[in-house]
Amino acid sequence: MSKQPTIGWIGLGRMGEAMAIRLLKNGCDVSVWNRTAAKAEPLKPYGAKIVAGKPDLADRDIVFTMVSTTDDLKEVLFEAGGLLSRGAKPDMVVDCSSISQEGSAGVRAELERRGIAYICAPVSGNGKVAKAGKLSVVASGPKASYEAVRPYLAMLGRSEMWLGEGELARVWKIAHNTMFGVIIQTFCEVAVLAEKAGIPRHVFLQSINNSVLGSMYTAYKTPTLANLTFDKVTFTPKLLLKDLDLGMAAAKSHGVPMPAAAATRESIAALVGRGYDNVDFAVLLVELAKNAGLELTPANVEISDGLES
Ligand SMILES: NC(=O)c1ccc[n+]([C@@H]2O[C@H](COP(=O)([O-])OP(=O)(O)OC[C@H]3O[C@@H](n4cnc5c(N)ncnc54)[C@H](OP(=O)(O)O)[C@@H]3O)[C@@H](O)[C@H]2O)c1
Repeated sequence: MSKQPTIGWIGLGRMGEAMAIRLLKNGCDVSVWNRTAAKAEPLKPYGAKIVAGKPDLADRDIVFTMVSTTDDLKEVLFEAGGLLSRGAKPDMVVDCSSISQEGSAGVRAELERRGIAYICAPVSGNGKVAKAGKLSVVASGPKASYEAVRPYLAMLGRSEMWLGEGELARVWKIAHNTMFGVIIQTFCEVAVLAEKAGIPRHVFLQSINNSVLGSMYTAYKTPTLANLTFDKVTFTPKLLLKDLDLGMAAAKSHGVPMPAAAATRESIAALVGRGYDNVDFAVLLVELAKNAGLELTPANVEISDGLES
């Protein structure tokens, strides 16, 4: 691989857009493709070259992918019209999507059969966290490939880490997002309890952020939970349900009881079943309040999400 590798990027959704822009802002040579072509346009001012089809990225040294599910990843790589459909191939594919261990192993086998190195590099954070340069990236795959791509993973956020060979980073991400779901469930539950008992919701949420229990996550969800601005979508109930299902499947296959995760999975499944789509997953608060006979109103207060740079 040359010293300054050329980069291709597939998938410019909430995450992919912000992540590709970080590479561009760091001076990388990035060509991009997105299924909905209009979503690629905002990257032009940053110097991105927009290509018409996925195979147009096959001559790049490294191709990053940030799509939704395992099936989507297989489609963009291997199916007709996919990255590899015209015979050319990059040196390496780096997938940052949140997908299953088994799905990722299948993708690895197929890429390695074609002589392409594969690094799984799932991330912690949302689009705004990515824009603020505060993502953390956890990777697995061949160590030498990780070292080659490490400078570019470093550009994506505040930390990058190699966990080992194979699909270990998938296990990490599944565990991470299981905890992510459990935390929002419990954060919303106690916020409803506090409000029903008479503590203003925004005051309670901020007090938790100031306590030993506060985290970057509880802080950045606080403005949304206080002001009920669920139309600013960071992550949907459907994507969270996908991840909790991955968590429960991993728990089953490794023989690990996860009672808190199981309860959270059902709660998020109910949210999806009630038709919440294209809305932030923190809307869970509203449903939990309804269960307690409480109708919420926006606090209409200015609260920092802690992500200002
Ligand atoms: N949002 C978060 O907070 C967050 C954080 C960490 C990880 N993740 C994970 O990161 C991944 C992306 O999440 P996101 O929030 O960016 O989702 P998103 O906004 O829904 O974006 C998904 C992207 O994948 C593309 N895509 C999906 N299926 C495709 C297919 N079959 N062929 C071609 N392109 C396809 C979409 O193209 P279109 O634009 O044409 O739909 C879009 O660019 C998911 O695996 C998610 O679980 C999300």
